Amino acid sequence: MSTPVNHVNNKCVQIIESERNKYAVNIMCPKLIDSINISKLLYDLMTDNCRQDTSNAEYIVVFKLTNDDPSLITRAIQETQILKTTVTRTNKYNGKKTIVDSFWSACEKYPELITEINNHSTPNEAKWLLASKYKYCIVNNFMPGYARAIYLYYLTPYIPYIPSIPSISSISLSVDKVPADEPLVILDQSVGWTDRLLGALSCINKIKNGIRYVGFDPNKSLRSGCVDVMKLFGQELTEITDSYMEFTGTTGNKHSIHSEPFEQGILEYPENYFDFAFTSPPYGTLEIYSPMNPVYKNWIEDFYKPLLIQTCRVLKPHKFCLLHLDDSSSCNVSDLLIAVNTFCDLKLVGKIGLLGMMSNKIRTVWVFQKIITE
Ligand SMILES: C[S@@+](CC[C@H](N)C(=O)[O-])C[C@H]1O[C@@H](n2cnc3c(N)ncnc32)[C@H](O)[C@@H]1O
Repeated sequence: MSTPVNHVNNKCVQIIESERNKYAVNIMCPKLIDSINISKLLYDLMTDNCRQDTSNAEYIVVFKLTNDDPSLITRAIQETQILKTTVTRTNKYNGKKTIVDSFWSACEKYPELITEINNHSTPNEAKWLLASKYKYCIVNNFMPGYARAIYLYYLTPYIPYIPSIPSISSISLSVDKVPADEPLVILDQSVGWTDRLLGALSCINKIKNGIRYVGFDPNKSLRSGCVDVMKLFGQELTEITDSYMEFTGTTGNKHSIHSEPFEQGILEYPENYFDFAFTSPPYGTLEIYSPMNPVYKNWIEDFYKPLLIQTCRVLKPHKFCLLHLDDSSSCNVSDLLIAVNTFCDLKLVGKIGLLGMMSNKIRTVWVFQKIITE
């Protein structure tokens, strides 16, 4: 006999709530979530007229948001975990690494920091303002508005997959594997703070047949936040195991989040499965997220190269993979990214720029395409 859906949902909710408590932090401090209006921020996200500038020759397009407040949604939902993340600084001359305190470790070290925050007129701003005084660092997030702009740029209007040189086998492949009423399947190799998840869900109704989001992240403490973001869009948790969560929405499209390293979990997916891949992976050891994450001796060989090779394998021909990544004091990746076509069928086709609202600094998103030459 099959289990009634409500019963399954209740069980899922219990599991995720006990996980939320397990990874909570018991320090009395005002929470960002209590100071924001999520409905208003969602409205702002979905109505932002992101500026697209194609005049900079270095970039395919440079996006500039008109309002970055919606990033408070993910920052608030994942606040506990964001404030737990530590940053490492690597000395570029001798390679020596120093670990900078996270906000929570500074709170444990200096009880007066909590008092100062609680007495401040805007406690959530004080968390940032007191960083240099107490020598801690708070990490940034990708921002859901930029993720939404990128998904809309690449996924609308929906263009069905048509093999470049039709042959009998490729025609039957396109009919069998890409029926017209299938949602677009998008891959996020490192879910992180859920900025791309939020960005993707916010454009479901703009994409013909919607999307199916598949994400990976070994850090299980982020799972309850993923459930919260899914809920904002009516996507209910309908299955949960130690390493997997499945969500079902009103359209019937399912979304999956795997709690395991991408390079391992992706092996169960077949070739030519995804319509789009886009992520913001770790910058080597620049940020340290959780003891659940693998530690790589050689980030290039053990993480970035397998990530590119596996993404290429599961991406459909001609589809795009976007990576928000750059050289950092912790790891130089650009040589590998430029040479991607020497070890798989991805080819670097350009870069997208993300212009900050307050500064002229442009963040880079690398754009690769899976090119199959017959
Ligand atoms: C937080 S995001 C990137 C942060 C970046 N500063 C940003 O927001 O643009 C990086 C995520 O990659 C995850 N991660 C680490 N190792 C991974 C792996 N092997 N596979 C997938 N995700 C991984 C981390 O747990 C983390 O949540």
